[in-house]
Amino acid sequence: MSSNVRPGSMERITNAALANAFIEEKIKELRAQIGDKKVLLALSGGVDSSVVAALLIRAVGQQLVCVHVNHGLLRKGEPEQVVEVFRDQMNANLIYVDAVDRFLDKLAGVAEPEKKRKIIGAEFIRVFEEEARKLDGIEFLAQGTIYPDILESDGVKAHHNVGGLPDDLKFELVEPVKLLFKDEVRVVGKALGLPDSMVYRQPFPGPGLGVRCLGAITRERLEAVRESDAILREEFAKNGLEGKVWQYFTAVPDFMSVGVKDGKRTFAYPVIIRAVNTKDAMTATVENVPFELLEHITDRITHEVANVNRVLYDLTPKPSATIEWE
Ligand code: XMP
Repeated sequence: MSSNVRPGSMERITNAALANAFIEEKIKELRAQIGDKKVLLALSGGVDSSVVAALLIRAVGQQLVCVHVNHGLLRKGEPEQVVEVFRDQMNANLIYVDAVDRFLDKLAGVAEPEKKRKIIGAEFIRVFEEEARKLDGIEFLAQGTIYPDILESDGVKAHHNVGGLPDDLKFELVEPVKLLFKDEVRVVGKALGLPDSMVYRQPFPGPGLGVRCLGAITRERLEAVRESDAILREEFAKNGLEGKVWQYFTAVPDFMSVGVKDGKRTFAYPVIIRAVNTKDAMTATVENVPFELLEHITDRITHEVANVNRVLYDLTPKPSATIEWE
């Protein structure tokens, strides 16, 4: 498909009234498609899968089974938020899988970025498949495919990795937001009552913090990435940069440098801050973050994050760099 024009020249969903009309229509369609059968959904907590979950909860309630795989590479607070929003607030049928040790054991000693991505993707399918096999009577698989996924690829959301389920687990697909653009998915998510922190979140790669803990992942450096990222996000939010800067995060390389703390020499990791703006992620410019804010963030990270003694700001646009470090 090469055109950006949607079938039937669908009106763009730009406000709550249009979103509510879309939601009502989808609920009818989903009920007609699913009947009294069960639907399975891999719920990462990203915008697309969250909106699909919220729509299906409205349409078929307990017939939806959500599986949230915590692979240990999510940002601070994300797995907890998925449980709180979907199980506690929306009363969803949610299976929470703690697969942290499993993923980190598989990734131990693997330094090559593409190999890391493959392991994370393959292990995700394996964990999801195991959960699917434990369930009886599932006939449908819901996916957060959105329109750009169809325009840009073969329609299978690569980073959700559910396209790779074995043949005996091929369910009928349910893709309620597949004709929507990202901004429309957000408007629908807002109308469905999802929290802003879920609906307006910045892009986050499928392999998560796995590609920001550079080289072979260790638990020590992974925690340094997670904690420093949480501080960066908190400070950007406090200082009006959330929602203004397209993507911002920290990365922790696999080398140490000398520092000093309380009069003693330290040997610890640096944290790299990246904050970029882009339209399509093909090129990107660096955000001109106020120097005082960078100093404050550096102070917090070096005092609050274990095993870190230095903070760097990445000034490189794309090209020559990419947005992520690996
Ligand atoms: P790069 O680093 O190529 O990133 O300039 C462009 C955008 O893509 C995201 N990214 C990924 N997303 N799986 C994903 O789902 C990946 O393996 C992956 N690698 C990069 C990156 O965060 C940025 O938004």
